[in-house]
Amino acid sequence: MKTPVVIAIDGTSASGKSTNAKLVAQALGFVYVDTGAMYRTLAWHCLKTGVNVDDLQAVAAACRRWKTELVCVDQQVRLRVGGYYPEKEIRTAETSAAVPRVAAIPKVREWMKKTQRSCVKFGPLVMEGRDIGTHVFPETDFKFYLDALPDERARRRAAEGVQENLAERDQRDSQRAAAPLMIALGATVINNSKMTSAETSSRLIAEIQKRLATVEKHGL
Ligand code: DC
Repeated sequence: MKTPVVIAIDGTSASGKSTNAKLVAQALGFVYVDTGAMYRTLAWHCLKTGVNVDDLQAVAAACRRWKTELVCVDQQVRLRVGGYYPEKEIRTAETSAAVPRVAAIPKVREWMKKTQRSCVKFGPLVMEGRDIGTHVFPETDFKFYLDALPDERARRRAAEGVQENLAERDQRDSQRAAAPLMIALGATVINNSKMTSAETSSRLIAEIQKRLATVEKHGL
């Protein structure tokens, strides 16, 4: 059986990954996967069950033992813990502060990679994150990296009502040893500081359709 197409969208915090990945998935009829939400879910689970997020071994053990399942609802993948999807809880300031710590642990990243790769069972994917083109699906021909100027990214977060230290988060994400945030080889880089999400997603869709036509003609 042919492996479904995977569109990898990586980039800095508040660079428009989620908005654009969702728009692209809708336009193409693909399934959307937010991998940041999966790391957030583990951070939330640790906080809730009293696991110290700075204790590497304790977090790795929690990740080995937690009872999860992947489900696809309205063309979006959700990670459920004990049958529950903590949609709101994973967006709190407390979870946001804990998640880069959890995401820096190699055993956690191994678990996430395996789980994220298994999402192809749902069909063609648009997967957004920090390491999708570099580590999770390095074999895909569809790699994108979104970025925007720091001031513009801070403005976008503030408009969403979220106060967060983006510079610190980006530094943690790009300087960790395990799968740091970086531009994948062959990725198309889009700096969308001066673009609307309609413009960014149109650019992504046009690029993807061009490549899909080539793949159909010549194979992957
Ligand atoms: O995209 P987000 O803000 O929901 O991501 C939450 C955190 O998880 C952020 O610190 C980066 C990290 N992350 C990661 O390390 N790798 C991914 N593939 C996705 C997110």
